[in-house]
Amino acid sequence: MRFRTKQIHGAVEPDPTTGAILTPIHQSTTFVQPSVAEYMAKGYSYSRTANPTVRVWEDKIALLEGGVDAAAFGTGMSAINAVFMAFLDAGSHAVVSDVAYGGTYRLATKVFTRFGVEFTFADTSDAAAVEAAIGPNTQLILTETPANPTLKYTDIAAVSEVAKAHGIPHAVDNTFLTPYYQRPLELGADLAIHSTTKYMDGHNATVGGSVVSATAELHERVAFVQNATGSIMSPQVAWLTLQGVKTLSERMDRQSDNALRVARFLEAHPKVTTVRYPGLESFPQHDLAKRQASGFGAMLWFEVEGGREAGIRIMDAVRLWTLAENLGSVESLVTHPVTMTHADVDEAERARVGITDGLVRLSVGLEDAEDLIEDLAQALENA
Ligand SMILES: Cc1ncc(COP(=O)(O)O)c(C=O)c1O
Repeated sequence: MRFRTKQIHGAVEPDPTTGAILTPIHQSTTFVQPSVAEYMAKGYSYSRTANPTVRVWEDKIALLEGGVDAAAFGTGMSAINAVFMAFLDAGSHAVVSDVAYGGTYRLATKVFTRFGVEFTFADTSDAAAVEAAIGPNTQLILTETPANPTLKYTDIAAVSEVAKAHGIPHAVDNTFLTPYYQRPLELGADLAIHSTTKYMDGHNATVGGSVVSATAELHERVAFVQNATGSIMSPQVAWLTLQGVKTLSERMDRQSDNALRVARFLEAHPKVTTVRYPGLESFPQHDLAKRQASGFGAMLWFEVEGGREAGIRIMDAVRLWTLAENLGSVESLVTHPVTMTHADVDEAERARVGITDGLVRLSVGLEDAEDLIEDLAQALENA
């Protein structure tokens, strides 16, 4: 099966008892056991450990990413938390991309450091910098590519090679491009992480997360934490995500088309000083973006003359674009990372990695590109 077929039919069977074409929502805490001797004969005991609807989503995302198995979580953050818990001990060290979602940075610096874990936020776009950051106690490399919000790319194959040479698992946050465009496990990574809140759901309807593992041993460690910490995805969220993912490729292709058109409009606008979209020839890592993934995605950012204040005026002046946190859904969203998604990243660290005060982040949706561009034009005019 090819990707578009898999996203609709893969891992999903009609319900054997009724023929229902959609996977039923198994809203049940517990599962009746025929006898003590036959405990778990049907595969389920209690919905914190495993649930049949969630299981179908886990099979689906494992299939789409090309992994051996997957574990689904209540949010993207709980998926990242599970990876930290599964692979980091007290006194250990992790290398994490220096540009990453602010919540990842917060979890590392404000929670895991309390348990004696050390972090190096390295420029993972440079495999030599990753190698240099590795110490005797390094137990995990976590990269996010393209990274939120600057869109810095990590060369997944190059970093995976370094990780393999040192026997350290390499986890890739694949939220921005999804396995439709970017396939971390095929490039040598060990784990692919998702906030399914974004493109997988695609409709601003849920929060969820998933971790896909390349081996059964890695999966066992992640699934153990999923059960031990009680952080599994709910059956309703799994069901909604199973419906959303059926149109993943179509949404991503159209949204990426729209994003390129918006980026070209911004690039030509006299008030815009910087535009960064991986599909533009001017993008600093355009060649890597082209080589590593089959599409450029639908995230971009820009800065205008007048910096922070002017950027904020534009975010307040748009009418069709919605000022909100989240990305990847059919609705086009505008976000000010410094105030919103990356507020918990230290100011000095933000400055070091290029998350500027005037950075306006766009998640391009599925509307008509002309309407999106007209709205940006009036906001740039009036702000
Ligand atoms: C790249 C990336 N990873 C992880 C997360 C966290 O996901 P969630 O909000 O579902 O917890 C986000 C959220 O914005 C994100 O952008």
